[in-house]
Amino acid sequence: MSQISDEIKSKLDVVDLISEYIQLKPAGANFKACCPFHQEKSPSFMVSRPKQIWHCFGCQNGGDIFGFVMKMEGMEFPEALRLLAEKAGVELPAHSNELSSSARNRILDILKLATKFYHKILMESSRAQTARDYLQKRGLSTSIIEEWQIGFVPDVWDTLTGFLLKKGFGINDLTAAGLTIQKPGGGNYDRFRGRIMFPLSDVHGNVVGFTGRLLNETTENAGGKYVNTPQTEVYDKSEILFGLNKAKQEIKRQDRAIIVEGQMDVIACHQAGQINVAASSGTALTLEQIKLLKRFTNNLYLAFDSDAAGQNAAERGISLALEEGTQVRVITLPPDAGKDPDECLKKNPELWFKSVDGAQLFMEYFFKKNLAGKNFTDPTVRSQVATTLLNQIAKIPDVIEQDFWLKKLTGVLDVDITLLRERLTDLRRKPMYNQKEAPADKKNQATEQNAPEIASENLMSIVLQDEEMLKIVADRLKIVALAEKHQNLFKDFLTFTQTAEKTPEKVIHRFRQSNPSPDSCQMIDILELLYEQKFAELSQDKLLNEALKIVDFLNLCYTGNIRRQIEREMKLAEEKGDSSKMTELMDKFKNLL
Ligand code: UTP
Ligand code: MN
Repeated sequence: MSQISDEIKSKLDVVDLISEYIQLKPAGANFKACCPFHQEKSPSFMVSRPKQIWHCFGCQNGGDIFGFVMKMEGMEFPEALRLLAEKAGVELPAHSNELSSSARNRILDILKLATKFYHKILMESSRAQTARDYLQKRGLSTSIIEEWQIGFVPDVWDTLTGFLLKKGFGINDLTAAGLTIQKPGGGNYDRFRGRIMFPLSDVHGNVVGFTGRLLNETTENAGGKYVNTPQTEVYDKSEILFGLNKAKQEIKRQDRAIIVEGQMDVIACHQAGQINVAASSGTALTLEQIKLLKRFTNNLYLAFDSDAAGQNAAERGISLALEEGTQVRVITLPPDAGKDPDECLKKNPELWFKSVDGAQLFMEYFFKKNLAGKNFTDPTVRSQVATTLLNQIAKIPDVIEQDFWLKKLTGVLDVDITLLRERLTDLRRKPMYNQKEAPADKKNQATEQNAPEIASENLMSIVLQDEEMLKIVADRLKIVALAEKHQNLFKDFLTFTQTAEKTPEKVIHRFRQSNPSPDSCQMIDILELLYEQKFAELSQDKLLNEALKIVDFLNLCYTGNIRRQIEREMKLAEEKGDSSKMTELMDKFKNLL
């Protein structure tokens, strides 16, 4: 297993991987960001490409790509292994115990096979002729059908279940995958029947479920136009955006995402060469979906149904997106454009692209919508409009942006801005908004209590970078004042600098080549990152200043501890009347001072 994980590691890059989750900023030879695992305002999360590791100096989490995926996705090792193997294009042994022991992995295998099965039926079966005709009529090319692995299942009770049981999968796993329904009195049947099948992938491209569209809307068929996989261990509707796995790179490159309602809309956009498109599948955006999108961009372009219900649903999602600090724009299609992007692209593609380019800021749209046709000579109308708009303005986390819309509101309502500000403050005080400043997590508190250890870590990171600094520190510091785990490394490093031959290469690199213990190497990796995060930008003077302050602090902590210990022992000796011990301790005390 370790051979495989090494192979995967050699093919993936920690910076690329983590960039799929959070926005990293270059910092020297490394990258930094605000830590995704705890609340913080200034970045202490570091990623090192040369070392292929990440570490947060705020919450002390750290590790390699596997550790990151496990923590970020809440996965166990076998699941992380599977995900990263897929990404790296590394074939995993088919019957590895470790993999199939995970129910999640078995479900993913089933879904992958079901995808191929449905797709093969669509492409090859004579029973799928009407389905092929239907998709052709809707304008989908063969290559786009292949790219999206679209499939078909005839209107029969057990096409897929029968196939998968023969392949050796267990009925309970098929049910857990959401593909088979077990009848209460025994027996089972396919959930999806007589439908065009669209595989739903997670952001990594694993198929986690399906949505199946009726071939013919007039057919008598239970379940509505679309039937979806229910909630399963791998599928949660609120966490999936259809097409995001294919769109994410382009979303990042263009720094904007277009969000449409249906999968046919996404596919039509992709077929028209517009790749930065994903679908919320007919519901308002959820917090999970917004967070997912925020990994790639802060700019969302939303095309939603023009009917009132659709608009209100969409506005709920938009409010969430605003609270998360994203810029939301609204794409409005003119009345003659068809009912959705798919139709518009067929009627008049230029009109769709123009509408995207002309998308207006959500707040702009919201102002227009709420001001249209209102009678402002009526004071109650005026107050109502103000409340509606202020509620929305209150959700914007950035105060400058907030101020911009506030000023606009003053203009349109002709109301004194101080009045509006007062109301806004009242609104913000209500707990419905932004309870985001969560209390620092436990781990954080633990590290705060341990100031000497943090100081020791900081000092070590400085001396490793600079031989001169090391000399100065070594002259003043009591080595025992360092955290215990740093003491040997400090001694070894000091000895190395005093004995080893000097070359122009940086001392830390030479030291590493001298084969220190694996523990030391790991510690050095993290200390080097810490230096980048905290000290790399300081001038030499400031750095020296900082180092000396830490030395004083550590020495003081150390003598304080010893003094307290001597005092305790003296008290004991006094109680026992042990006078020789007393003198010995007195001497120790004097020495200490
Ligand atoms: P629409 O009814 O607008 O369908 O639902 P559509 O996307 O235009 O589909 P076509 O063009 O008729 O084939 C929008 C989305 O809402 C979800 C689907 O994801 C759909 O794409 N939906 C709709 C359901 O989940 N169930 C339904 O019964 C209907
Ligand atoms: Mn449609």
